[in-house]
Amino acid sequence: MKLGCCYYPEHWPEDIWAEDARRMRDMGLSLVRIGEFAWSRIEPEPGRYDWGWLDRAIETLADAGLQIILGTPTATPPKWLVDQMPDMVAIDEQGRPRGFGSRRHYCFSHPGYRAECARIVAAMVERYGQHPAIVMWQTDNEYGCHDTVLSFSDAAAAAFRVWLAARYDTIDALNTAWGNVFWSMEYRSFAEVDPPHLTVTEANPAHWLDYRRFASDAVVSFNRAQTDIIRAHAPGCDITHNFMGFFTEFDHHAVGHDIDVATWDSYPLGFLEQFWFSSAEKRAYLRQGHPDIAAFHHDLYRGCGGGRWGVMEQQPGPVNWARFNPAPLPGMVALWTLEAAAHGAEFTSYFRWRQAPFAQEQMHAGLLRPDSTEAEAANEVREAASVLDEIGPQSAAQAPAALVFSYEAAWVIGIQPQGASFRYLELVFDCYSALRQRGLDVDIVAPDADLSGYRMVLIPTLPIVPQGFVEKVAALTCPVLFGPRSGSKTASFAIPDGLAPGDCKSLIALTVTRVESLRDGVSEPGDGWAVTRWREDVRSRFAPEFADAAGQGVVYVSGDVRYCAIWPDAALVRLLIERMAGEAGVPLLDLPEGVRVRRSASHCFTFNYASEPVLVPHVGETLSPASWHIAPRTR
Ligand code: GAL
Repeated sequence: MKLGCCYYPEHWPEDIWAEDARRMRDMGLSLVRIGEFAWSRIEPEPGRYDWGWLDRAIETLADAGLQIILGTPTATPPKWLVDQMPDMVAIDEQGRPRGFGSRRHYCFSHPGYRAECARIVAAMVERYGQHPAIVMWQTDNEYGCHDTVLSFSDAAAAAFRVWLAARYDTIDALNTAWGNVFWSMEYRSFAEVDPPHLTVTEANPAHWLDYRRFASDAVVSFNRAQTDIIRAHAPGCDITHNFMGFFTEFDHHAVGHDIDVATWDSYPLGFLEQFWFSSAEKRAYLRQGHPDIAAFHHDLYRGCGGGRWGVMEQQPGPVNWARFNPAPLPGMVALWTLEAAAHGAEFTSYFRWRQAPFAQEQMHAGLLRPDSTEAEAANEVREAASVLDEIGPQSAAQAPAALVFSYEAAWVIGIQPQGASFRYLELVFDCYSALRQRGLDVDIVAPDADLSGYRMVLIPTLPIVPQGFVEKVAALTCPVLFGPRSGSKTASFAIPDGLAPGDCKSLIALTVTRVESLRDGVSEPGDGWAVTRWREDVRSRFAPEFADAAGQGVVYVSGDVRYCAIWPDAALVRLLIERMAGEAGVPLLDLPEGVRVRRSASHCFTFNYASEPVLVPHVGETLSPASWHIAPRTR
C-alpha cells in the first residue's frame, strides 16, 4: 500500500514547493493529490487559462519522485462562472439558492454548468493526460458533501420531467404507479410534475423515491461525462472519485461502475461525533473512533470499486467540522493506516500535507503545522511506512460473510421511516459490527453481486427486492438472514399484493400482518435480548425460532433462510450470527471489547481500539491502546 497526501500548491509560495516535495518523500509518501479546488487559478477569467503554475507544480512534485493524482476542479465553480449563469446554483428544499462563497454550489442537472465542466475537464486532460507522473484522475470532490445531491432548481425540475417520461412513457402509467388518485394528485402531463418539495404535508413517497432515483442518476451521469472525457485523452489512466463516510444520497455502486478505483475520505473521530453513536460509545472511542467505522467503509467501498479501492483523505489530527474535535490517541493515525492495508487498500493519503492558516479549514490538522514544523501525525506516518515495508504488499482475501447493502433501501427507509429510530445505516452498521466482534471478515456488497462464494449472507433489510434477487438467494446453500421490512414495498413504493415480505415469501412462507414502531427507551424482553424500535406481527405455519417473553415470534427459519421480524438488538444479532456460523462451520473468535481482527490474503492483523491495554487471547499478548499485532496467516 502506498502512502500519500493532499496538497494545495496554490496555497503556498512557489519557493517552498520543492522542499515540501522532498519532505513528503522523506516521510515515506509516494503519492500526492492536487488540483481539485483550483479552478479560479487555472482559469482566472472566462477562457483565459493560466497553466504555468500548475505545470511547475506538477514538474516539482514529479522531479521529487512523487506520483500525482490530479483532481478536476468542478466542486468549486469560480465567481465569474456563477455570475455568468446565476441559475446554475442548486436550490435547496426550502427553495433557497445555495450562495457563492464556499463550495459545491452547483446543480447536477444544469446543462450550462455541465457544458462548462466538460470544457474545463477537457482542457485539463488535453494538457496533462499524457504526463507520465499523473497516475490517476479524481473526478470532482465528494459528490453530495454539504447536502448537495438534491436540488430543486428549474433545471432539475425540467430534467426530472424528462426522466419520468422515459421511465413511465405515459402520464397515466405514472399516476397509477404512484397512486395519484389519492388526494386528487393526478397529473394530465409530465409537464405538470414538480419536484416533491414545498408541499403542505409530506409529498407522495413514490414521488420522493423517483426524485431520489432521478437525483442519483444525475450524479452518475455528471460523473460519467467527466470519465468519458478523461478516458478519451488519458486512455488507460486510472480514474477515481472520493466518496464520503455514512453517506447514501446517491447510488455509489452505480458511480463505481464508471471508475477504476473507489476511494473514500476517512475521518473516524468526526464521524463518531456526528452520527448516531451513543454517548457511552462517543466517550469510550473519543480519540480512536468506533472500531468499525473505518473498516465498514473500507469493506463497502472495496465493493463499489469492484475490488480496487483506497483512502483518499485520512484524518491526521483534529478536524474542524464536527461538533467537538478531539485529537487522536498517539498511535491511531498509524493504526488507521494499517487497518486500511489489512483491508487491501491500494493507498492511504492523508488530508492534508500542511494545515492552512487561512480560510474555512484553518483549524483542521495536517501532517505539518501552518509554520511547517511537523505535527504529531508525521512520525506515525513514518512508523506506518516502515511496518508496510516489513509486511510487504497486502491484498484482500475472500471473506466468509457478505452483507448486502442497497442505496435504494436507504432511500425507502429515509422517505418512510415509520419509526423515528429506524435508521438504515445504523441497522447495517450494527450487523457489520456484530460480525466483526466475532472476528469475521466481511464483504459489503450490492444487491446484484454474486453471492455464491460466501458462507453466510446477511441482508439487514431490503424493502424493494430487485428482480432476480430471490432466485439468486434460492440457489445459495449457506445460511441467509433477511431483516425486518424486507420485501415490504414494490418498485413503485406500494405494499405488495399478498403483503410483506412480497417475493421473499417463496424463500420463507410467512406473512407480515402488521408493523409497529416503538419509541426510544421502550424495550420488551426476549431471552437475553429485547424488542426495541420495530416489531412485525407474523402469520406463519412455522413455529418461530425465537419468540419474546410474551411468546410472540420474532425470528422464523425455513431451511437456510431466516427472517427477523424485529429491529434486532446487539444481543439478538450476535445470537443469529452464532447460529449461522455454527451451521456454516465458520469459526468465530471471542474478541475483547475494542479489539478487532482483519485477515488479508497473507496476514492476520489484530488492532486494539480500546483506550486501555487489553489482553488478547488469540494473540497471547497484551496490546496497549492504539496498537496492533500482525502475524503471517497460518492457513
Ligand atoms: C473532506 C473534503 C476535503 C476537506 C476535508 C476536511 O470532506 O473532501 O476537501 O474539506 O473534508 O476534513
